[in-house]
Amino acid sequence: MTTTATKNREIRLAARPDGLPGLDSFQLAETAVPDVGPGQVLIRNLYMSVDPGMLMLIGAYPGLPMPAYEVGAPLYGDAVGEVVLSRDPSVREGATVVHRLGWREYALAEAGEVRQVDPDAYPSPSFHLGFGLVAYAGLTAVAGLRTGETVFVSSAAGATGGMAGQIARLLGAGRVVGSAGSPEKVARLTGVLGFDAAFDHHDAPLAERLREAAPGGVDVYFDNVGGEQLRAAL
Ligand SMILES: NC(=O)c1ccc[n+]([C@@H]2O[C@H](COP(=O)([O-])OP(=O)(O)OC[C@H]3O[C@@H](n4cnc5c(N)ncnc54)[C@H](OP(=O)(O)O)[C@@H]3O)[C@@H](O)[C@H]2O)c1
Repeated sequence: MTTTATKNREIRLAARPDGLPGLDSFQLAETAVPDVGPGQVLIRNLYMSVDPGMLMLIGAYPGLPMPAYEVGAPLYGDAVGEVVLSRDPSVREGATVVHRLGWREYALAEAGEVRQVDPDAYPSPSFHLGFGLVAYAGLTAVAGLRTGETVFVSSAAGATGGMAGQIARLLGAGRVVGSAGSPEKVARLTGVLGFDAAFDHHDAPLAERLREAAPGGVDVYFDNVGGEQLRAAL
């Protein structure tokens, strides 16, 4: 497999915003498709994650566990793509890979930086961008969830929250309740993702909604948003 494409497009950080980013924080740039050296692979990106953690990298807040985005440089983040050119025997051309160089059409990566995945494992390869490990680690290593306990998940229809609710159930939680921001999401929580109860966090007062959903109290709160919902859970 090869690519005949010569042009690549990427999104760069145009300026570090004061507060939340706006459109003028980003810049679309056209570059050449990079040359592939020994030990490297060229990936055509198919899906990329746009997630809340990126706000921290845009703002370059102190104490980040990873490098902040640099002004003038392309953003990075989780992506799923197809290897169109490989110069390393460990990665075959045509493979579907997960890697960290999103925000561009073509990504040049070291072979050791990509993870080959089964493109047919889920309904869409984009499912590989889920945050199952974060959900699992939070529930087990951090919260120490025990069988029979009640778990409350905020942003429960989100990438991390949706996994947290389902994993809590598999780990033996007694009751799993969640909140989300629209009637459609709330219906999905109980109808598709197996939550026992769910509510819309726009329906104040939140503490009452939570009490109705979890009448026996909450043992573990998997907090995705902070703010009012954290206060209600506490
Ligand atoms: N430590 C790690 O490695 C790691 C990795 C991944 C994620 N995280 C963290 O996990 C959390 C969830 O991340 P995610 O990627 O799965 O995102 P997400 O929950 O899929 O997306 C954000 C959702 O949060 C809710 N939300 C946003 N602003 C809100 C506000 N002001 N008040 C209430 N709800 C609000 C909205 O959903 P609703 O309105 O439907 O509730 C929104 O769709 C984030 O805090 C993220 O930083 C950490």
